[in-house]
Amino acid sequence: MRNFKATLAVLIFAVSIANGSEIFLRSKEVKKISSDPFDKIWKKASPFAVSLIPQTFTVPYGGGSVKLVEAKSLFTKTDLYIRLSWEDSARNTTQDTGARFSDGCALQFPAEEGSLPSPFMGEKDNPVNIWHWRASNSADNRYEKAYSDFYRNGAIEEHIAFPSEPARSLFAEGFGTLTPGKIQDVQATSIWKDGRWAIVFKRALSSKEGTVFKENRVIPVAFAVWDAEDQERDGAKSLSLWQTLILGDTKLPELKTPEQRGDRIFSRYGCATCHGPAGRGGVKNLNAQGGEVPPIDKVRNGFTEAEVEQVIRLGRRSVPEDANAPMPPLHMIPWGQVMSEEEIHDLVKYLWTLAPKGEEW
Ligand code: HEC
Repeated sequence: MRNFKATLAVLIFAVSIANGSEIFLRSKEVKKISSDPFDKIWKKASPFAVSLIPQTFTVPYGGGSVKLVEAKSLFTKTDLYIRLSWEDSARNTTQDTGARFSDGCALQFPAEEGSLPSPFMGEKDNPVNIWHWRASNSADNRYEKAYSDFYRNGAIEEHIAFPSEPARSLFAEGFGTLTPGKIQDVQATSIWKDGRWAIVFKRALSSKEGTVFKENRVIPVAFAVWDAEDQERDGAKSLSLWQTLILGDTKLPELKTPEQRGDRIFSRYGCATCHGPAGRGGVKNLNAQGGEVPPIDKVRNGFTEAEVEQVIRLGRRSVPEDANAPMPPLHMIPWGQVMSEEEIHDLVKYLWTLAPKGEEW
């Protein structure tokens, strides 16, 4: 039933893309709001359905239990509120030294105004600001079992960092670079009810350290969810690529040609993370043929548009150079899971503009 509902929601989501309706997270201004995730005022915010995909880009691979998260947003003169909710039949709030993990979710924004870093935890010199909520962070259930593993009151704190706030502000410049911010000013409140989590994040519109939110700006936002019941933690999570958050009534600038739209899709889905800036290659892929992810700036010279569309739609596993060595870590993702046919079409039109003019084999 759960899967059926999720599939139906994905279908509805896909249809709404196809119809060209607005698909972004619109934040509405309100006078006052409480931190209660069930505050009636949330009825005023329009829901935005975000499809999530498993994290299959780097170790530890995993995730995929949660396929859809609903996002809503409101703001006041001083603060931004983002509410996430998703279906989760088991409430997991205890993280310990055994094999118990905690449900969680996160929002990701470019740390610097006007930039669009890789959606996969940012990139060098182009950081992302991450707001991470974990169910186990709330004080009442932190040490429940962990204490018995250590036999000494307080010992656990020397071994595992349990933040005392439900949410933390973090920064990253690529996989494995996550660091807590110096200023911890992100708040979160959560409720698990009737098989669903509902979390409200709150932070001042501007912060000395993290992303700054202004009315009438287009701000990229990405989402992640951890379902601990399926042993999800750290890199094992369900994630989205860049989506769009708009505070206020501004209309999105219309991208007129398929090439312009394709350029935006290329950034939004982070193709450059594996294929290099403008698809020019140079990204290492251990034990792959040639040792790198292939460049894609010249695919026009070797393939038809239909062939390239098909690779993007269905993905492809990398072929190892040495069959006895570990598989190459990076694979081409079956993007058909999250992209509409229209997006795949526009993306290929953009790839066609990348090869220098007049250059043939
Ligand atoms: C997680 C890394 C990763 C990401 C992100 C990624 N790719 Fe790939 N892609 C690969 C790998 C690895 C290959 C080579 C697979 C193989 O060995 O056949 C590939 C192959 C391709 C090819 C075929 C190239 C050829 O010469 O055969 C195309 C086209 C392509 N990717 C387009 C894209 C586009 C467009 C995006 C963004 C939507 C994208 N890729 C995102 C890893 C990635």
